Amino acid sequence: MAVVETRTEGDVGILTVNRPEALNAVNDEVIDGLVEAVEAFDADERIGAMIITGGGEKAFIAGADIKAMSERSYMDMFMNSKMNELTRLTRVRKPIIAAVNGFALGGGCEIAMMCDLVIASEKAKFGQPEIRLGVIPGWGGTQRLTRAIGKAKAMDLVLTGRMMDAQEAERSGLVSRIVPPESLMETAIEAAQAIAGFGRPAVMVAKEAVNRAQETTLAEGLLFEQRLFYSLFATEDQKEGMAAFIEKRQPSFKNK
Ligand code: CAA
Repeated sequence: MAVVETRTEGDVGILTVNRPEALNAVNDEVIDGLVEAVEAFDADERIGAMIITGGGEKAFIAGADIKAMSERSYMDMFMNSKMNELTRLTRVRKPIIAAVNGFALGGGCEIAMMCDLVIASEKAKFGQPEIRLGVIPGWGGTQRLTRAIGKAKAMDLVLTGRMMDAQEAERSGLVSRIVPPESLMETAIEAAQAIAGFGRPAVMVAKEAVNRAQETTLAEGLLFEQRLFYSLFATEDQKEGMAAFIEKRQPSFKNK
């Protein structure tokens, strides 16, 4: 069985990390599987949005695979780490939803933060426990977490290694929505289908614009947003979306 399984629900691509016996810990095979599947869905015209989730009951992803990492040397990590590969998840243009069904720890929390929305089950737990292993987060945890939830909370999690529950994660700004465990996938699929139903150019530039806010100054970001906003007036979808509103009907986007 593949360590990353893929399926589709209409125009939504779903990826399930499937190593429940190791709480879906991420080894090189999982990285290859995730990157390959996300890029394939991104290139697939039929797909408008994606979901990443964890197989089994307990975990989204409990981090990088500690057993696979424990004997590695500095040189091995420096020369052969797949971190740059994993970063490719952040370069795709279609939105990705993390459907967090359980532990999202270390690299698992970091992969959730590489996604665009985080929908969490009431049972989800988030944390950056690397300090307990004698290391620090290595896939963006000190950087993306600090931007997501601020220095006070990020320091608390990174320095103490404690976990936060779904409620605290939502209050802190890491999680978009919390739902009962049994509705997690249904809610994530509904959200992904809603996104996939909008005009693709608008969805892609909306994602680009929000992500830009993490990277640049307010003035530059506002200019970037304004230029993208104007550019959408060159699309058929803008004409259709606004005409449909005025004519009191549902729009039929052509993705052009
Ligand atoms: N790597 C490898 N195996 C892992 C794992 C991980 N990150 N997390 C869990 N497992 C394995 C366990 O070793 C165990 O396997 P065995 O049955 O063969 O012993 C199995 O999954 C089930 O785990 P537990 O028995 O520990 O389950 P639990 O319910 O008692 O505890 C847990 C759950 C609190 C999540 C605990 O498993 C845990 O603390 N896991 C490690 C979390 C962690 O430290 N993550 C950070 C990794 S480092 C990292 O990610 C670096 C980075 O930034 C990239």
